[in-house]
This record gives sequence, structure tokens and C-alpha cells, in this order.
Amino acid sequence: MEPLLKVTGLQKHFPIRKGLLQRQTGAVKAVDGLDFEVYPGETLGVVGESGCGKSTMGRLITRLLEPTGGKIEFQGTDISHLGVSGMRPLRRDVQMIFQDPYGSLNPRHTVGSIVSAPFTLQGVEPEGGVKKEVQRLLGLVGLNPEHYNRYPHEFSGGQRQRIGIARALALKPKLVVADEPVSALDVSIQAQVVNLLDDLQEELGLTYVFIAHDLSVVRHVSDRIAVMYLGKIVELADRKSLYENPMHPYTRALMSAVPVPDPRRRGVKSERILLKGDVPSPIAPPAGCRFHTRCWKATDLCKTQEPPLLELRPGQRVACHHPENAEGATVPGARESVEVKITKAPEAPEEPKPTKAAEPAETTEPVKAAEPEAEAAAKSEAEAETEAAAKSEAEAAAEKNSSGE
Ligand SMILES: Nc1ncnc2c1ncn2[C@@H]1O[C@H](COP(=O)(O)OP(=O)(O)O)[C@@H](O)[C@H]1O
Ligand code: SF4
Ligand SMILES: [Mg+2]
Repeated sequence: MEPLLKVTGLQKHFPIRKGLLQRQTGAVKAVDGLDFEVYPGETLGVVGESGCGKSTMGRLITRLLEPTGGKIEFQGTDISHLGVSGMRPLRRDVQMIFQDPYGSLNPRHTVGSIVSAPFTLQGVEPEGGVKKEVQRLLGLVGLNPEHYNRYPHEFSGGQRQRIGIARALALKPKLVVADEPVSALDVSIQAQVVNLLDDLQEELGLTYVFIAHDLSVVRHVSDRIAVMYLGKIVELADRKSLYENPMHPYTRALMSAVPVPDPRRRGVKSERILLKGDVPSPIAPPAGCRFHTRCWKATDLCKTQEPPLLELRPGQRVACHHPENAEGATVPGARESVEVKITKAPEAPEEPKPTKAAEPAETTEPVKAAEPEAEAAAKSEAEAETEAAAKSEAEAAAEKNSSGE
């Protein structure tokens, strides 16, 4: 099958400028060489700790950002450097759902005008008129079509996210990039929204890139999962392989942090791998394997040689010199599969296909406050629907960089 989206060597380096002359003194290597494909009808989950480049990746593939390097192909067309007019037809096909349902909806606009904005911007007249179509969309996402004239503040967080979803679906997109769509919501609401996205995918034949900061949320909805660390994909595998046989130590560590669904078993045997230290700065990522400063298996090789992302099992790509669960896998010569004993072994999470009910709610840890940065990003992205988007984005980036972050 031809991929819907194909990404090769994708990079985004935000320049850091200092001084009066605004000379570039360095760069935030937010995304630093990604290779992956997204196939029609599938959900690719993308996980990793905060700051590892997930949102930047999402904004690159929706072309809210311009890549520094690499290639993005959508349905076989290179869209890496398309300008505003070149992107216009594509804006219909590729949509984004943002993390922050408060910041991403303009408080001064009614729900009706928010959801109908894509039609206006694209000059599309839906069959039966805009109002009727917007009401249909509101119904589709489980909102009352009568609430057309209400304002965002009259809705709860979960309802606002439904409004954002309705807006994203207005133009019948092919690819929807959902950037932590439930992270800012109450745990009790998260499952409803995830299930809604899941149902809509089936109904409308959508393809998703679903970004989350932990594995519990994407687990139920993803066909394949990419694990990111410091701007790179460290492991990419189908869901079953990833959960049953994680091969990258970082995946294993993330996995061990996923709470056990059954409350009676919570705490029993669920020993965790605690990652030491913080994520290093993407301005100067560690040499060799970027994870070596926190990896309990790191050897001298890891400190000097960057492990490439290789397919070690069918459908499972891993970037590690000493992968876990490597029995029977094709581990290339340079990679001695040394099994280093971990004092605390994580419990293998059970795999059962989730019952569609409230499971994610139970397994998801309380939501931390939305990262202010992501929030700001979402805000600027909401405006990004206007053509001025790319520009204000660039300005925001410039601003940020000059502040020396
Ligand atoms: N516009 C920007 N200018 C400079 N640095 C940025 C910008 N956007 C994101 N970053 C940096 O890039 C890194 C990755 O950020 P982000 O993609 O938001 O990660 P995630 O979504 O995984 O939390 C972070 O270090 C962040 O500070
Ligand atoms: S390459 Fe080395 S440091 Fe990196 S994850 Fe594998 S074992 Fe750990
Ligand atoms: Mg983010």
C-alpha cells in the first residue's frame, strides 16, 4: 500500500540568535532526522516526554512550520517547501487538533462561526448551506446542533475539544494530526473524546497521527507507535510488538511508567524503571546515542556511535546498540546484544484489546497543567487557519529565539 504521508530525514532546527546583530549562535534541534510513513486508515501514535519534539513534528507534517531539512511527501507529492498558495488545496486534506481546547478557540466567535471558518477560508459551499453543515458536524461530534450561536466559554473543556474536532473535520480531511488532544482534559472526559475520535475514524475513514506524552493514551487507538526521544524516533513498531516486546530501553522505561489498569493489582509487581536526570537540552544533544546519559545499559560504543534506526524484527524498527528482548531478532554485528541486568524489571503490561468503555480514563494519570509553551503554540495555531498563519508562526519563533530559549 502506498503511504498517505512519507517523511524522510525530517529536521527542524530553531535558530538561536543573540546580540544586536541577531547573529545565530546555535540552534534548538527540536526535530533531528525523522523517517516514518503513515498509511491510509491507520493511527500512528507518537509518544515521548515533554520537549522531545512531538508538537514540532506535528506542525511540520501539517506544514504550519517549514522544515530545516528532509522531505515530507503527502500522497506522493513533495510538500516540504510549498508556500501559502501551494499549500491551499492541501489545507483541506490535512487538519490538526490541538491540545488546549481553551486557547485554540477564539472566545469572541460563536461556535457556528468557528466551525464554519474552514468553509469560508477555503471558499467552499457545502451542500445544503454552511449552517446546515455546521449543525450536522456538531451533531456528529455529540454536541447539540442548537448551540450554534453559543460562545466557547459556555462549554466545558471536553465540549470545547469536540468543537475543535468538528472544525478539523469540516473539510473532510484525509489526515488528522491530533496533538495531545486529551491531555488538557479531566481524566473522566479523556476516554469519551478518545472514543469519539476512534468512532469518527471508522465512520469517515480518517488517518490519524495521534500525539501523546505517555503510552497509556495512545495504546488503545494506535495501530503503530513511534517513540521519540530528543528529536529522533528511537523505536517504531506495531502496537502488539511494542507492548509485548519493547526493544529500546527508553520504550521499556516509558512502558514501566504506565499504570496498571486493574486497581487491585496496582502497586503489585509494577516495579518501575526510574529514568535518572532530565531530558538533555536539544541545543546540545549528547554524542552517540542521545539516550546514553540516562540509559542503564550504556557502553562506550553508545557514547560515541549513534545507533541507526534499523528493522530488527519485521515491522519493528529500533535505534539501539544493545536492544532489549533481542532473542531471535536480527541484530547487526556492531550490536552486541548484551543483556544487562536491571535490578527492577518492569511488569509486562497486558495487551487485551480494550473494551471501548472508560478504560483510558482509568489508566491515565492525572493530567498536569498544560505546558505553557504548548498552549502558546496552540493559540498561534488556531489563528494559523488564516493565511497569515505561516507568518505569525515565523514571528513567534523569531521572538522565542531572540529570547534565547
Ligand atoms: N518556536 C520555537 N523556537 C525555539 N524552540 C522551540 C520552538 N518550538 C519548540 N521549541 C523547542 O523545541 C523542543 C521540542 O519542543 P516540542 O516540539 O514542543 O516538544 P513536545 O511537543 O514533545 O513537548 C523544545 O526544546 C522546545 O523548547
Ligand atoms: S544505544 Fe546504548 S545508550 Fe542508547 S539506548 Fe541502546 S544501550 Fe542505551
Ligand atoms: Mg507538545
